[in-house]
Formats: sequence, C-alpha cells, structure tokens
Amino acid sequence: MPRPILATIDIAAMQHNLAVARAHAGAARVWAVVKANGYGHGLMNALRGFADADGMALVEPDAAVLLRQRGWRKPVLLLEGFFDAADLEAIASHGLDTVVHCEEQLRMLEIASLRGPVNIHLKVNSGMNRLGFRPHQVASVHARLRALSGVGQIVLVTHFANADDEHNPALPLAEQVRRMREAAAGLDVPLSLCNSAASLLHGELTEDWVRPGIMLYGGTPGAAPAASFGLTPAMTLSSRLIAIQEIAPGEAVGYGSRFVAGKPTRIGVVACGYADGYPRHAPSGTPILVGGVRCALAGRVSMDMLAVDLSNAPQAQVGSSVTLWGEGMPIDEVAHAAGTIGYELMCAVAPRVAVAVRGDN
Ligand SMILES: Cc1ncc(COP(=O)(O)O)c(C=O)c1O
Repeated sequence: MPRPILATIDIAAMQHNLAVARAHAGAARVWAVVKANGYGHGLMNALRGFADADGMALVEPDAAVLLRQRGWRKPVLLLEGFFDAADLEAIASHGLDTVVHCEEQLRMLEIASLRGPVNIHLKVNSGMNRLGFRPHQVASVHARLRALSGVGQIVLVTHFANADDEHNPALPLAEQVRRMREAAAGLDVPLSLCNSAASLLHGELTEDWVRPGIMLYGGTPGAAPAASFGLTPAMTLSSRLIAIQEIAPGEAVGYGSRFVAGKPTRIGVVACGYADGYPRHAPSGTPILVGGVRCALAGRVSMDMLAVDLSNAPQAQVGSSVTLWGEGMPIDEVAHAAGTIGYELMCAVAPRVAVAVRGDN
C-alpha cells in the first residue's frame, strides 16, 4: 500500500504550455528545456508533453543519449556542452548539438577528428559571467570553428540574467542585448537569446531560437503569476491527512514547537515532509489546500509529515485530500512563502514520491 503522496504530471498541460511558448516565439524555433529530469517532471513525460517542440535542450549527456534511444529525432542541445573530449564521440554518433563556451572546449574540438556535421552553439558571455566567450572574442572563435570540417551550423547563444527585471541596475537587459549584438556584428549566424521570461516579456528578442524552460511546466519565470500568461501547472503534488489533533490554546505543534495555538485548533497531519521535497524552511502560514480549501502550514516541516491549521476547513477528516502545489495552488505562491522559486520545488520532488501521469489530448 503506497503512502498517499503523489506527483501527478499532466501531459496536456505541458502541451498547452508549449503552445503558449510557441505563440510568444514568433518565427523562432523552440527548444524545450528539459534538464534536471524535465524540471522534475520526468524526462519521458517531457518527451510526450513537448513532442511538438523543435528540439530538446538539457545539460546531462546521458539524458541526451536517452532521448535519442527513446526515438527523439529532432535536435538535442547540450546547454553546457561537453565535459571531456571522450564525450565528442557520443555527440557525433547521436547527432547532438553542443554549446561551446570556453577555450578548453574549443581546443578539444580542434584536436578531435570530429565526424560531423555537429551543430555548435557558440556561447557568448554578455554579462551573466557563468559561461561563454567575451563579445570581442566571438569573431575569432567563430573563425576557428568554421575552419573545422566536423562543424555544421554555428548558432550564437547567450543567457539573460535579468529578463524578468529588465532595469536591474547591475546588468540591465538592454546592456546584455547590446553586447550580444556587438558579438554578432558581421557574422551571418542565427541567434538564440530568450529563456521563458524574455520570451514572455520581450517578444522583440525571440530571433531564431528560444529556450523556454519554466513556463513549459506552468511556473512563472518572475514578474507576474503564471496564470496571467495563460500557463497551466503541469505538476500537482497531493497527499492526504493521516491524523487530526485537537489542541488547546497554548499547545504547540511539531519540532521546535514553532506553532503555538492561540485558540482551540484542529491540526491536520499530512503525509508529506522534506524527504518528499517539500521545503523545510517553509514558514507557518504557507498556503496548503485541504479538501480544496486554503489552509495554512503550522509549525516546522518534518521529514515525512507536516501539520496544517484546519481552522478554515472544519469538515476536514483523516483521509481528506491535500494539495501542496499544482492545480488550485500555484507552486510559485508556495515557493514565495518559502523564500525560494518554483523551479527549485519542482526539481526537488524526491524519488520516493509516486508519480501518476495524466494522458495527453
Ligand atoms: C542556457 C539556458 N537557457 C534556457 C534556460 C531556461 O530558463 P527558464 O526555465 O527560466 O525558461 C535555462 C535554465 O536555466 C538555461 O540555463
């Protein structure tokens, strides 16, 4: 008999969100970003939900090969490129596209007798300072790549730090765009600029390829709630009440006795804890649906359980349904209460949580 905690993955929601991404992409082709096991939704579910994408982008070479083995014939892009010269063999034999972001990778390519054509996504560091060549280096890197017989198409790619906060004084979006245009000047190459936030908020930047991730899963990349962009949650984390405690004023709940009742209170105990991926740092008051009614987390989250104040749900009983996030309870609201982002919650759902897949249209 399984524990009642369940992650339900909604393939139709993924298909819908991809259609929203495409509607924002103009003429650009759409990479579905499926790293981290499809942002925690399962790579094979992503394969079904995003079958209409123009390509799949991720960072794990093994998962890229798995996509090929499961029949994905359209492009697959390694967003961090390769980690070792030995990876180049698999890149060529499985027809993967790869980012090249540093001199070390470039040298590995130059030394390898690459069987191509392998499409290269030349990464430009336009200010994020994680990966990429500086704009002034791009022309010479491009020329070195062009000189290699195994290299196919070359795309220029950059990643925005503040697409959801364009006037960030440390690095305004416009400055990253300016540096990218400078890098691309004089090169006849396709561009790949937009993550979800840039796709949704800056349609003028969609160019040749877009790389939406979070929006495909129904989360917001920031700036506004996901629903305001027409996005639908692709994951619902649900469970049940497994116990109810009636506590008197002054009685406390859980480790550290962080929640103390101010009045006679019914406390529901939910089969969901931090070992399932619920954030331990979520404070009392974090919203939780019980039987469809909004209630509040009470006290510290423990490994396998959390407690909820049932004041708003007097009908709740042992067995009542609980929604931690997803349908009816935006993951971004829970994340905000817990001081994190929906991305982290999705990716952190633990392997012990059973997964149900709701079918496609
Ligand atoms: C290079 C790159 N492109 C696109 C994405 C997708 O970003 P988002 O999930 O915000 O749409 C990511 C995610 O971190 C990324 O690293």
